[in-house]
This record gives sequence, structure tokens and C-alpha cells, in this order.
Amino acid sequence: MNFIKVETYDELSTKAAAIICGQVAMKPDCVLGLATGSSPLGTYAKIAEKYEKGEVDFSKVSSINLDEYVGLDGNNDQSYRYFMNTNLFSKINIDLAKTNVPNGCAADLAKECEAYDNLIKQSGGIDLQLLGIGLDGHIGFNEPDAYFEKATHVVELDPSTIEANARFFASEADVPRKAVTMGMGGIMSAKKVLLIANGKNKKEIVEKSFFGPITPEVPASILQLHPDLTVIYCEN
Ligand code: GLP
Repeated sequence: MNFIKVETYDELSTKAAAIICGQVAMKPDCVLGLATGSSPLGTYAKIAEKYEKGEVDFSKVSSINLDEYVGLDGNNDQSYRYFMNTNLFSKINIDLAKTNVPNGCAADLAKECEAYDNLIKQSGGIDLQLLGIGLDGHIGFNEPDAYFEKATHVVELDPSTIEANARFFASEADVPRKAVTMGMGGIMSAKKVLLIANGKNKKEIVEKSFFGPITPEVPASILQLHPDLTVIYCEN
């Protein structure tokens, strides 16, 4: 594991954007695994800046996002599809048809999950997976559990996750109770993993996840077993 501690969120975002754009430079038709949440916002802004400067070309890149709320379609401004379109895809020259976010409104969610795992396989595998981390150690929406769930699945969100994500909604009651998330199999099969975390409130979970025992009670701890993991943490 490459654990990098930085002083500012700006530094974190600059480094993460450099790693992602470096991946695209090395393999122009790579598959990027992308994440939502507030942590990657700075990274996406830096990527957009690099694109504006002509430093990176996303025309051959495809992407596979981690998760989506059940019941929110892509036009809903709280959906992760909307988040990705707004904060990244509309700012770079990625082909929208090559971007993938689970469909949280699929009539048959079990089928949607199966199709998502097939998509990951058929893509040839994710070259670089970007991750944030929840306060309870969740990655994607893989919540603390008695075991690590391998496949893409529908998950009941933890009360603490609903509370943490309520800041993006009009009220806590509006936060969907369920989500579709890529499972640990999809995440761990990525060739490289880059996790970014910032803020004092993430310090404890970052320590538990990367320096504590590997347990499904701390979902991100499984990443200690990944052969190519980079964590960038900024306490400030
Ligand atoms: C959400 C997302 C995660 C994200 C986490 C942390 O629940 N599903 O992918 O990592 O929140 O979000 P933030 O970066 O806003 O702290």
C-alpha cells in the first residue's frame, strides 16, 4: 500500500487528478472506475482543468461508476448519474455512451446487478478504481456487514450513511433507503485502486481501515489485500 499524507485538500485533488490523467495517458482506452461524494469534487475539477489545457484526452476512455440510489433516475439532481454528468462528464470529452452508472430505477434490480457485473467483466476489467470512504468505512455503498459481498447488489443504507448523506437532500426523509452498489469483487478486481479521504472526521476510519484488522465490519479494510492500492489522506 502506498499511503500518502498531504496537507491540503487542493494537494490531494492535484495528486489524485495526476494519477487518473497519468492512467489515461498510459492507456488512452482505459476503463476508469469512478466515485461520487464530496471527496472527488476537487479531483474532478482538476481533471477538467487539465482537459481544458489540452493535457489529457478522454475520447477513448470508458467509465464504470460504483453506485446509484434506488428510485432516482438520471434527471434527479441527487442521483449519482446527474452528479457525474454535472461534475465531470460534461466538462471533458468522454463519450457519454461509454459512461456507466447502475440504473437505480431498473424494473428488475436483480437483473440490473447481474448485468452490471457482466459489464465489468466484458470491459476487460477496471484499470483504475477511484474511491472515497464513508464514515463507517463503506466503499461504494458496501456497508459494514458480517461478510464481504462480492457481487453488485442492492443494499439497505445504514442509518449513519443516511444521516451523513442528508446534507445533499432537502431533508433526511428524502434520502433513499436503498442503493445499488458494485460489490467487493468488482472493486478488488480493479488493476489499481486509488482511495481519497479528507477531513479530521475521517481520521479514525482511515486508521481502522488501513492499519487495523481486515474485517467486513470495516468494509474498506479489504483494500489492504489489494496488490496496487494508493491512499491519499488529508486531515485538514
Ligand atoms: C457516499 C458514496 C461513497 C462515498 C461516500 C463518502 O455514500 N456512495 O462512494 O465514498 O459517500 O462521501 P464523502 O466523500 O462525501 O464523504
